[in-house]
Amino acid sequence: MPATYRVTVEPLGQQVDCREDQPILDACLRAGIWLPHACTHGTCGTCKVEILDGEVDHGDASTFALMDFERDEGKTLLCCARPRSDVTIEGDVEVEEGVTTYPVRDFVGTVAAVEDCATDTRRLLIDLDHDIAFNPGQYVSLEVPGTGVSRTYSMANPPAESRRIELHIRRTPGGLASDGWIFKTLAPGDTVRLSGPYGRFFWRPARTEPAICIAGGTGLAPIKAMIRHVLETGADREIILYHGGRTAAHMYDVDYFRALEEAHPDRFRYRPCLSDEQAAGYQTGLVTDVLAAEMDTCRGHVAYVCGPPPMVEAALRTLMAKRLFPRDIYREDFYDASDKAAANVRSPLLKR
Ligand SMILES: Cc1cc2nc3c(=O)[nH]c(=O)nc-3n(C[C@H](O)[C@H](O)[C@H](O)COP(=O)(O)OP(=O)(O)OC[C@H]3O[C@@H](n4cnc5c(N)ncnc54)[C@H](O)[C@@H]3O)c2cc1C
Ligand code: FES
Repeated sequence: MPATYRVTVEPLGQQVDCREDQPILDACLRAGIWLPHACTHGTCGTCKVEILDGEVDHGDASTFALMDFERDEGKTLLCCARPRSDVTIEGDVEVEEGVTTYPVRDFVGTVAAVEDCATDTRRLLIDLDHDIAFNPGQYVSLEVPGTGVSRTYSMANPPAESRRIELHIRRTPGGLASDGWIFKTLAPGDTVRLSGPYGRFFWRPARTEPAICIAGGTGLAPIKAMIRHVLETGADREIILYHGGRTAAHMYDVDYFRALEEAHPDRFRYRPCLSDEQAAGYQTGLVTDVLAAEMDTCRGHVAYVCGPPPMVEAALRTLMAKRLFPRDIYREDFYDASDKAAANVRSPLLKR
């Protein structure tokens, strides 16, 4: 039996029990104590806190996200840190106004469908054994069978569909979960284990400005959840979606979004963009270039950006050059194992 330690989260003074083999963030999120986090695999630095008392094992936190001098100063990344004694941490526990947070739960799912929806892109539909409550844009952590590791995937379904989740997964050549399992052997009827919801990239109902959504590849998944949520709940919001792919064969759900645009011409506009070819019905260029050419200024908007880290960085530069402030930009970087191993992760100056 693994030992259990008591974790105290200041300034709340709330206490949770945490097993010695359990990340402290996991114990807190399951107990309903909301703490900022984004990647949940030690790469982005969003969950960095100060340890006020006690000992932790820093686990496999990236040496770039948690530098040696920070470890010496008593900092840790909660998504990787395991307790080695009773521990007190100083958490950034403030929850934004108008946002409900949902505790993390475990689920057993049955794969209902596996669809090749674009080049190197699969859509999974998974039926859960019980309802999942979440904010549109959040993600789940999927256990890769027989490996002891999990990978994170954003839910593309809105919260109203709480029993069947939709995931969009891009194949990473040589990738353990995608290439080695999801694109190889995963089939309808298979049982999968997952937990969620995680993350703070979700629709902010209190932000009433028109929204600019920018998605690269499967970065479309959380944004689809947001758009469906807004349009299907009848919320009075305007959204423009820029979705980028290399060629038309890399794009998916194009007809779906065109139909949404037709159904909601006053609230939703759709700009599919191709970087490597020209095709009728698509804008040509990187999403950021198309946006820059179309919009003189982004002032007065709020932005949601999701996809591969270089695309997210490029989008942030474009949005800020167009007069949007960091506080108006929400981001999700699809960091993978190579990002964790490399020094290409920027410090989290912007909301994640
Ligand atoms: C919050 C979040 C949400 C996400 N949502 C989605 C989503 O909705 N859809 C989606 O497609 N993806 C998403 N991702 C990415 C996803 O979680 C996986 O990272 C991705 O699928 C790759 O996993 P893999 O196991 O296939 O590859 P991995 O095994 O993780 O390998 C990834 C790459 O890193 C290389 N690599 C592995 N280990 C090392 C090492 N030690 N040093 C250097 N290189 C190494 C591999 O060769 C490969 O090229 C999300 C990521 C995050 C953080
Ligand atoms: S959430 Fe812990 S480092 Fe990203």
